[in-house]
Amino acid sequence: APAIFAMILRRELPPLYRSHLEEVERSLLRSHCPHSGLQVAAGLCLENGQLVTGVNYESDSYGLTLCAERTAIARAQANGSIELVRAVLVSADWKIPGQQALTLSPCGACRQWIAELSERLAINLPVYCFWKDLPEGSRRTASELLPNSFAKNY
Ligand code: THU
Repeated sequence: APAIFAMILRRELPPLYRSHLEEVERSLLRSHCPHSGLQVAAGLCLENGQLVTGVNYESDSYGLTLCAERTAIARAQANGSIELVRAVLVSADWKIPGQQALTLSPCGACRQWIAELSERLAINLPVYCFWKDLPEGSRRTASELLPNSFAKNY
């Protein structure tokens, strides 16, 4: 079984974030994952109560795949809401049901993006990860996900 650390139950989420997580999970259907079959969606919770979602976008080259977290961050930058980000939600589900839940955890590239966003906002952003059909997930902060990160000093 995958190690669950910083475990949190869905029902322990703040009510707004719980409803945001449901919206993130509805957006799983928009994932473009013809190669892995793993649908991933991310949601950036904004200070004004709104949510900016992103989904993974796989490339036929495999290596140029963009994860859901970075898609959401780039989208929030483009729509002018990046300064309002206060938390990150991530959810995943298999396109074809029946496969085992693996450890759901942001990749190294996304950890770097989240660390840099945290630095920009001067907030140690919380990152919540949940499988679509599981009640328990994880809550970790940007600095827990990537301690001693490189960040701009200019
Ligand atoms: N993926 C994400 O979008 N976010 C994560 O946190 C983990 C991995 C995507 C990338 C790829 O499209 C698929 O999941 C399988 O690795």
